Amino acid sequence: MTDQQKYAEWERARLFRNDRVVQAPPAGTVARTAGSPDPLAQRPPMSLALVERGKQRFQIFCTPCHGRAGDGNGIVVQRGFPHPPDYAAPRLVNAPDRYFYDVITSGHGAMYSYADRVPPRDRWAITAYIRALQRNRTL
Ligand code: HEC
Repeated sequence: MTDQQKYAEWERARLFRNDRVVQAPPAGTVARTAGSPDPLAQRPPMSLALVERGKQRFQIFCTPCHGRAGDGNGIVVQRGFPHPPDYAAPRLVNAPDRYFYDVITSGHGAMYSYADRVPPRDRWAITAYIRALQRNRTL
């Protein structure tokens, strides 16, 4: 028990190519003390592929309540769930993109958070698609 076959922290370790016990953290590792990365800095550039990804994710996660057109008449709402606002309402047309990102992340009123199901990149993709829905219905 007192003499186990294991490396001590700073010992030479032949097991690894660089002979070190303490290996560098994988690329993209964020220190626990660093806080959350700024979502705006991680925003993917606008592209048709992004909007199409957003459409697909929107139709999976959001249409049950918000409806395919984003008018808030989804099937769950038709069965009695509180009616979400129409995305074409001036207040939401004028809201910044970040607002939609934040609602998906944190939820809003009766709507719960989608943070565990919709990763940051897809939140921006869905936001891009919501913009397309809004344009479609307000032009
Ligand atoms: C289970 C039903 C449901 C689902 C699924 C849902 N929402 Fe909602 N959403 C609501 C309801 C209800 C409200 C209104 C909440 C309130 O005002 O209390 C709302 C409000 C919103 C608002 C407007 C917030 C405001 O300022 O009024 C946005 C934007 C939104 N949802 C985006 C999304 C997106 C994007 C998705 C998919 C990732 C989604 N929602 C999925 C029910 C849902």
